[in-house]
Amino acid sequence: METQSAAARRPARPFIEVLAGKTLVPPPIWMMRQAGRYLPEYRQTRKEAGSFLDLCYNPDLAFEVTMQPIRRFGFDASILFSDILVVPHALGRDLRFEEGRGPLMTPIDASEVDAIDGDGFHDHLAPVYETVGRLRRELPPTTALIGFCGAPWTVATYMIAGHGTPDQAPGRLFAYRHADAMSRLLAKLADQSAEYLIRQISAGADAVQIFDSWSGVLDESSFEALCVAPVARMVKIVKAVHPNVPIIGFPKGAGSLYGSFRQKTAVDALGLDWTVPLSQAKHLQAGGAVQGNLDPMRLVAGGQALDQGVDAILEQLTGGPLVFNLGHGITPETPISHVERMIERVRRWRGN
Ligand code: CP3
Repeated sequence: METQSAAARRPARPFIEVLAGKTLVPPPIWMMRQAGRYLPEYRQTRKEAGSFLDLCYNPDLAFEVTMQPIRRFGFDASILFSDILVVPHALGRDLRFEEGRGPLMTPIDASEVDAIDGDGFHDHLAPVYETVGRLRRELPPTTALIGFCGAPWTVATYMIAGHGTPDQAPGRLFAYRHADAMSRLLAKLADQSAEYLIRQISAGADAVQIFDSWSGVLDESSFEALCVAPVARMVKIVKAVHPNVPIIGFPKGAGSLYGSFRQKTAVDALGLDWTVPLSQAKHLQAGGAVQGNLDPMRLVAGGQALDQGVDAILEQLTGGPLVFNLGHGITPETPISHVERMIERVRRWRGN
């Protein structure tokens, strides 16, 4: 337990203040996938590491790549370098990343779900906890550290298909054909992922984000059962241990269901994808902080497309709690000069 005076001594972190509901102008900024292939220094370290998973599980290298965007741009938040698929990997599923193909796993069968157990889970993930601890000790005190995991539905879609697909049809079919096995799989993932976040927080994460990248492919009742319910379960478990650590939910593509997602899951903040209208985003700020939501392709394009996209978000959303971010991860072809231009434009903003 932290004492009152220790909390008072902790330096202000703009990102954390906004997640608690404060309005800051200019808003704090970070980028999803801020450590990644658009940075030459990342590509260099990645080459030295050999495989992508070696990078994730080596605390020296994971620390290094997490720090790279902070050194270069001085973001308000740093996100642990890892991947959402280390959770099924730690549960004994095989995983590899192939150049140009993304993640590859052996597809799980409905009959295999009950055999999944948490034996050795935290031992497997110990290097991640070590990376988090080192980061919190060495990051600038005003830079918040974000831990993360995938939401059960999104992780399950990769376990079932064995790779990414355009609309995660294999996961959806599995949910309809094997509803009981699906709910047991999601419950296991929810419980293990919540424990994973609890450990990241205990190791030094100041906030956590739950990535539900594939929320947007579900119909309304499946969204409720496969996205909302497992995330609500996770939030309850994490909050029971760390009630004051903010949780950001990112149900990408949730559309008009964003508001009820926050209400039903009790996440503190909502990550918005770029298709969320700013008028809707403004409305969502009445319920707490929002984070987002520049189209990553505006950042690739630069120029007017970038400036207009940035200004629209700032004009519409700086009247309430906003963390400026992209609406999804930065892509490898993004010019670094465009990232610099975006940051400068956000940091110069004083309202209008
Ligand atoms: O944001 C950060 O800087 C932290 C690191 C991070 C990575 N993946 C590194 C990564 C985070 C937060 C993730 C999350 C993640 N991983 C998600 C959810 C967010 C999203 O993007 O929708 C998903 C669905 C995954 C699974 C995954 N990992 C895919 C589909 C891919 C291939 C796509 C790609 O960009 O290549 C990965 C690989 C991956 N994860 C890379 C990075 C930097 C690129 C791999 C490489 O360097 O060779």
